[in-house]
Amino acid sequence: MTLFHREAQPSGRPSGHRGTADPSARVDAARVDSGGAAAAQADSARVGLVTGASSGIGAAVAERLAVQGGWRLVLNGRDRTRLDRVARRTGGLALPADLTAPGAPEALVTAATVAAQDRIGLLVAAAGVGWAGPLSTMPADAVDRLLTVDLRVTVQLVRLLLPPMLASKDGHIVLIGSVAGSLGVRNEAVYSAAKGALGVFADALRQEVRGSGVRITHVVPGVVDTPFFERRGVPYARSRPRPIPPDRVADAICRAVAVGREQVYVPGWMRLPGLVRSAAPGLYQRLAFRFG
Ligand SMILES: NC(=O)c1ccc[n+]([C@@H]2O[C@H](COP(=O)([O-])OP(=O)(O)OC[C@H]3O[C@@H](n4cnc5c(N)ncnc54)[C@H](OP(=O)(O)O)[C@@H]3O)[C@@H](O)[C@H]2O)c1
Repeated sequence: MTLFHREAQPSGRPSGHRGTADPSARVDAARVDSGGAAAAQADSARVGLVTGASSGIGAAVAERLAVQGGWRLVLNGRDRTRLDRVARRTGGLALPADLTAPGAPEALVTAATVAAQDRIGLLVAAAGVGWAGPLSTMPADAVDRLLTVDLRVTVQLVRLLLPPMLASKDGHIVLIGSVAGSLGVRNEAVYSAAKGALGVFADALRQEVRGSGVRITHVVPGVVDTPFFERRGVPYARSRPRPIPPDRVADAICRAVAVGREQVYVPGWMRLPGLVRSAAPGLYQRLAFRFG
């Protein structure tokens, strides 16, 4: 029996609709109905919040956690239809919201906590956008959107979720970085910077919470076969590395959560270029300039 499961109505709204959310918050609090809360109370499974759950890696993580069992899933994404589909498949609660809207991270955490009537024990922060091209051609609003979705929103969610995790000496935060953040990829300067910052954020935070019972996992995927590239408007064009399926990243994330791993490269060999960059930066720059 899945705790948050409810059939979506033809309108796309679940049953138990009881009004409109605070418009400043933009999270559809109508989905946080009393039925869901009562069901949530009846279950002792831990609550996992997955952002980016309407597509790609986030959707694959939600499905993997649902198969694993022991989780009540709260799922965020923007596209209601796709998010509802993942929610139906995983028994999760869909809380659609554009996380760049003012107050949206706060509203999501509040809505998720109210629905679960419990603290959130796991965050998988998989929402993200890309942009590719020379920086001089990147529109200002694209810079803002990328830094907001890929960095600011994630930092805000962690800031909000951390105090109850620290108070209960238990919790797990999974941050989805990118190999672009370990290397700095040509024509992806802002994306590389956001993902690099996320990795340093993970390292710093891990030191801060060491011994508290809260774990921080930084996941560093290589190229993953998701709609990410189509959405950024520039398809993935290299012949190597070959894109890996999102399920493979989801498996690695779930294993890392199970055993408390701090950093995971998927595939594992993706760690190597970063090691070369650290050990021999001059050589790395020459190779990167030549091979891109
Ligand atoms: N694909 C790769 O090769 C690759 C490699 C390394 C790292 N990553 C990282 O992995 C993460 C997941 O990417 P993916 O490949 O799964 O891409 P994806 O299939 O495009 O999924 C991105 C997810 O982020 C959500 N999202 C985007 N903007 C949002 C916003 N403003 N508010 C709320 N949610 C928002 C999307 O929601 P909607 O679809 O509902 O809009 C979607 O669920 C990202 O952080 C990405 O940077 C991807």
